[in-house]
Amino acid sequence: MKLLITGAGGQLGVDLVRHATAAGDDVTGVDHATLDITARDTVRRLVADLRPDAVINAAAYTAVDACETNVATAHAVNAVAVGHLSEACAEIGAHLVHVSTDYVFDGTLDRPYREDDATNPQSVYGRSKLAGEAAAGPAAAVARTSWVCGEHGNNMVKLVLRLAAEPGRLAFVDDQRGCPTFTADLAPALHRLALERRTGVHHLTNQGAVSWFEFVQEVLGASGHDPARVDPIATSELDPPRPAPRPANSVLDNAVWRDAGLPLLRDFRAPLAELIAALAK
Ligand SMILES: NC(=O)c1ccc[n+]([C@@H]2O[C@H](COP(=O)([O-])OP(=O)(O)OC[C@H]3O[C@@H](n4cnc5c(N)ncnc54)[C@H](OP(=O)(O)O)[C@@H]3O)[C@@H](O)[C@H]2O)c1
Repeated sequence: MKLLITGAGGQLGVDLVRHATAAGDDVTGVDHATLDITARDTVRRLVADLRPDAVINAAAYTAVDACETNVATAHAVNAVAVGHLSEACAEIGAHLVHVSTDYVFDGTLDRPYREDDATNPQSVYGRSKLAGEAAAGPAAAVARTSWVCGEHGNNMVKLVLRLAAEPGRLAFVDDQRGCPTFTADLAPALHRLALERRTGVHHLTNQGAVSWFEFVQEVLGASGHDPARVDPIATSELDPPRPAPRPANSVLDNAVWRDAGLPLLRDFRAPLAELIAALAK
């Protein structure tokens, strides 16, 4: 497969390029400096010149709290630019795979969210990503994921390892639940969406739902630290409060993927252990 990967310098993008290259694809990965996806003409020219079979968009404005004030940038990158990619793909018959988020939901449901559950984003980031799903269009595959961690980039695993190296206790919220998802497992699933030209919304997360507090306990335990070093707190106790509201329930039921007979991503504890081993090298 001839593949174009946008946002190739990001946490997910790096592992997407790595996976697709190892799978034998003809891969062009473009980072932010090489291709700004908000530049419509440049996007169309690149896609028309390269003529990939598929485009996987891993580019996004992911600074969730900063989005609350940088509304125009959030909308331009996470929504309008996805339309540019969709348009460019349609012109040459390339398949678009676009990555979205659990933040399209308000988090009030008392069970895991299915793909067809009502969306109701509570943050600028969530609203921009939901608009991006619409801009991707019905011919695209949209993969909603959550709590992404990988070797390249900032994430909760790296934060906990940094904090654990210092003395003192840790405190993390126990009233937001989700499924930690590792780029090493997410990348092959996104690659499959591209290869098989699947369409529509897919929830794609590692299995295993935890609160942030419980996830931190897992990270501490898996890295040889004492899991009892972290205390549970409520979101309301965060000081200062974070500008963007987070969904209390971020758990995504991977129903469409499962119902298609595709293998669910592993329990998150397996790629967590692998990531910790890789970071220790
Ligand atoms: N991280 C999470 O917990 C999480 C959870 C759910 C869903 N997601 C989704 O997963 C996808 C990948 O996220 P990630 O964790 O890999 O985020 P990331 O590390 O922030 O990667 C995003 C990349 O997009 C680039 N970018 C920003 N604006 C751009 C533009 N205008 N044109 C081209 N590239 C641009 C960024 O470059 P610069 O840094 O140079 O600006 C960055 O390299 C995103 O769609 C995100 O919404 C992430």
